[in-house]
Amino acid sequence: MLWTIFLLFNGLLLLVFLYSTRTRQKNEPPLDKGFLPWLGHALEFGKDAAKFLARMKEKHGDIFTVRVAGRYVTVLLEANSFDAVLSDTVFLDFTRSKNQLLKRIFSLQLPSIKPAAERKWMEQHFQGLCLSRLNSSMTAHLQHLLLSDHKGCSPSEWRQDGLFSLCYSLLFRAGYLTLFERGDNTAAVYTEFRKFDSLLTKLARGTIRRGKLHEDKIAILSRERLWELLSPDRLSGGSESQSWQQSYHRLLQEEGVDEEMQKRALLLQLWTTQCNAGPAAFWLLGFVLTHPEAMEALKSEIRGLPLQAISLQHPHINPVEVHCTPVFDSVLSETLRLTAAVIISREVLQDKILRMASGREYLLRRGDKVCLFPFLSPQMDPEIYQEPQDFKYDRFLNDDMTVKDKFYKDGKRLRYHTLPWGAGRNMCVGKEFAVTAIKQFVFLLLTHLDLEMCDPEAKLPPVNPSRYGFGMLQPDGDLQVRYRLKRTHPEM
Ligand code: HEM
Repeated sequence: MLWTIFLLFNGLLLLVFLYSTRTRQKNEPPLDKGFLPWLGHALEFGKDAAKFLARMKEKHGDIFTVRVAGRYVTVLLEANSFDAVLSDTVFLDFTRSKNQLLKRIFSLQLPSIKPAAERKWMEQHFQGLCLSRLNSSMTAHLQHLLLSDHKGCSPSEWRQDGLFSLCYSLLFRAGYLTLFERGDNTAAVYTEFRKFDSLLTKLARGTIRRGKLHEDKIAILSRERLWELLSPDRLSGGSESQSWQQSYHRLLQEEGVDEEMQKRALLLQLWTTQCNAGPAAFWLLGFVLTHPEAMEALKSEIRGLPLQAISLQHPHINPVEVHCTPVFDSVLSETLRLTAAVIISREVLQDKILRMASGREYLLRRGDKVCLFPFLSPQMDPEIYQEPQDFKYDRFLNDDMTVKDKFYKDGKRLRYHTLPWGAGRNMCVGKEFAVTAIKQFVFLLLTHLDLEMCDPEAKLPPVNPSRYGFGMLQPDGDLQVRYRLKRTHPEM
């Protein structure tokens, strides 16, 4: 027995040794293994990916390979070369990493679901007539929730809340009512979801704490409660229902997914469809509240919209959808440039030569991962955006008030100047729906509420650095605001 343990231990040591002795081969990107055996840079990466990758970029340039928890990850930070990764469906694959994440975060396995078929199904629901129906429903729910949250308050009564809570709660509940069509447990689902979402990055990285804090138990319990709350037999709609959630349920049944996994898959859909819009609306409102010139420009554009559009008497007309709003669009683009931080990741299936836009070629090794982090480049690249850390509401506006979408680096126009929605085969399906919902929400708040910061000198809270890589960033803390329903007809 002792001998077996001894031999196994030695075998393991040998493997660790062999793996950690990887050296950079000719034509490979610069290699940085970090000091810790096997772990490499995992701790620094998990703590603050943006800071770590910015440090590596400074040291190695636009492409480099780092060791992270036993894996070798090549990071490409040159936006004009992104297509070499995004368009390759033969040598590079995204399903394996995605499936691993689904298992870790949602305890979910869907081997029979073909990603392309699922995506096609999703696209049908978020375009054309279906999209119009979803947009109208979202508008009506937002208006209803805004008014009902104020029931029982006297018109002059101020209420106080954190802006992040206010935005996340309203957009989540309206989104849930629109897509899951279930009115009786909205508040419970929201409360449980926030608990789960706060531990999600730790679940993904496998760094959830046991011991005294019992984070692991909290996450597992919360996940189980959400499965129960979302359980298909507790959701609405008969077999003929055309609702999005019912249709998804039917798709899973047709693909032979068992009942337990059907239940779990609904939590994945809840997260995918609800985790980004609330935080995006928070940053947008937070930026304009702390930049008076931006607030004034936005309000002035809204004042210019036809009056009947602003009235709650027309609950199904969505003014920001039917009218041109270049300032609003620029404010949203600038917000997303500063706070959308997805990591786009692929597995290298076979050795591949990656050709950069400059003509340089690098060898990617089979079994490694390759990642793009558009937040650092192009979104925060000082050669593309002047003072990239600053919020400038008109950065995406031309002098003639048209959308500015031409940006350059080294004299070359960029194909991708921001990538808040991802790109390639798993680019966001809900982009149109999300943009309309966020704009409608901000529009409603600005036209129907007096909204101000409790402390006029307050600053936006910093970013929670553990969220880099997971879509929209979230704040570490909140911005306290006070608000009340406007006493007169909507005006600003
Ligand atoms: C500000 C709001 C949003 C942002 C910034 C955002 C961003 C993203 C990003 C970056 C991805 C790609 C993830 C990856 O490459 O791993 C994605 C995927 C996706 N998003 Fe969004 N999203 C938002 C809102 C929404 C909404 C409201 C919906 C639906 C109602 C939605 C539905 C989806 C779906 C279904 C996918 C998966 C696509 C696939 O795997 O083929 N998103 N989103």
